[in-house]
Amino acid sequence: MLPRFDARTFETITPEMKTAFERDGVLVLDGLVSAEMCDRLRARMAEMIDGFDVEEHRTIFSTTGRNHDQDAYFLESGHETRFFFEEEAFGEDGELTKPLPLAINKVGHAMHDLDETFGAFARQDAFKNICEGLGQANPLPLQSMYIFKQPQIGGEVVCHQDGTYLRTDPETCLGIWVALEDATEENGCLWGIPGGHKDGGLRSAFRRKPDGDGTYFEKLDDRPFAEDKKVALPAPKGTALVFGGMFPHMSSANRSNKSRHAYTLHVIDGAAHYPADNWLRRPDSLPLKGF
Ligand code: FE2
Repeated sequence: MLPRFDARTFETITPEMKTAFERDGVLVLDGLVSAEMCDRLRARMAEMIDGFDVEEHRTIFSTTGRNHDQDAYFLESGHETRFFFEEEAFGEDGELTKPLPLAINKVGHAMHDLDETFGAFARQDAFKNICEGLGQANPLPLQSMYIFKQPQIGGEVVCHQDGTYLRTDPETCLGIWVALEDATEENGCLWGIPGGHKDGGLRSAFRRKPDGDGTYFEKLDDRPFAEDKKVALPAPKGTALVFGGMFPHMSSANRSNKSRHAYTLHVIDGAAHYPADNWLRRPDSLPLKGF
């Protein structure tokens, strides 16, 4: 069993939290975010979906097919608010199989710099203190996502390390994952491999092609993840899971009737080098800014 910390009155990372994070690769902070704040984010996202035109954007997001990789819609999403759909959201006739609010996989990746509600949430003191307490000298929020994990069609996310997608040299990426609803084994909670962040290196790198158009994966380490050691990371509403870019994690499909909304913020250390072949590139008009 991984330790769980009561974070309802969180102020800073304690030595016990730091020890657990360094040993396990993940920190479980129960109650870090209030139920009211979870509801506020859900309500704001519902408004954003209301303003979305599905006919213009039929991009289907899938971590198994990756057919969106070449799509500029995805590549430009690092400085926009964009909507990605579940794999099974569209039928053979090209029509939505579900009402729009139940067909979206995720929204990303710059709401923390573009939207007032999500911006204020991302730049809360607790997140800044987590990043600094876990060693970042100059934390820079890089990417945020609202993940729906829809009832019945919420797709599987295969085992991966977030450092594959957001690379710095040295590796400094921190992911703060917040359950906006109860996440259980039934509705597709996260799973992770405790200690897996120290078991081999980064397995692969997701790189932007030199011409800037399109992406590819480069295999860096052939060792498989020790998936037999994975544990479920159930997270009641308001719980935050914090893990670094090397921590192997995954989630299964949601075949239940309950949604599993979650929010993630990825933060890098501005003191580290951010290679130009990362997929996420910010234009000069929207530079990264700290807390
Ligand atoms: Fe991830």
